[in-house]
Amino acid sequence: MSGVVVLISGRGSNLRALVEAGLPVRAVLSNQVQAAGLTYAREKGIATGAIDHRDFASRAAFDEALAAAIEACSPELVVLAGFMRVLSSGFVARFRARLLNIHPSLLPAFTGLHTHARALAAGVKIHGATVHWVDEILDHGPILIQAAVPVLPGDDEAALAARVLVQEHRIYPLAVRWMLDGQIEQHGECLRHRLGLAQYLWAGVPGSTQ
Ligand code: GRF
Repeated sequence: MSGVVVLISGRGSNLRALVEAGLPVRAVLSNQVQAAGLTYAREKGIATGAIDHRDFASRAAFDEALAAAIEACSPELVVLAGFMRVLSSGFVARFRARLLNIHPSLLPAFTGLHTHARALAAGVKIHGATVHWVDEILDHGPILIQAAVPVLPGDDEAALAARVLVQEHRIYPLAVRWMLDGQIEQHGECLRHRLGLAQYLWAGVPGSTQ
């Protein structure tokens, strides 16, 4: 087993961050034939595949085809980067402890969709992103790394999303590198860096020492 297979559904900015960080992305698979990230991967000479979920009669049948395509690449890790499909428990079990996701909130807050709008509506002062191992529950599983950003007065959804995305592009390559290098140990539900490195980034208010 070697390298990483990345699963996407859309623009693929996290995919780009992984590639630009020099990580060994062996293949990119998408359930959306038109995903912009597929075009980027092709331009970079990375193998791509599109498996349209609408061509399958059931979630299980789609997941089986997806798992077969992944296993054909024998990757060390399977990295979800804006992959907008819920995966069945059978799929999760097949790739357990080597299946990563990035979610645009500080989990366990704001699982699901529209995280930035919901963070603004809730009036939280700190927001962010989380990389975690995937388990059977949506946007749940042992947390690998988180990045926190301030919610600033005047933020709208787009401004907050952009601030979080910058941090996503920092923490996802870091987390994938740590996994490939065998730096992450599991202690019950907790993941710890072997050398005790901080598993968070705080992208505080510019000019603030807080
Ligand atoms: C990111 O915000 C990621 O956290 C979420 O979906 C978005 C994907 O963006 N899971 P991109 O396709 O990587 O640009």
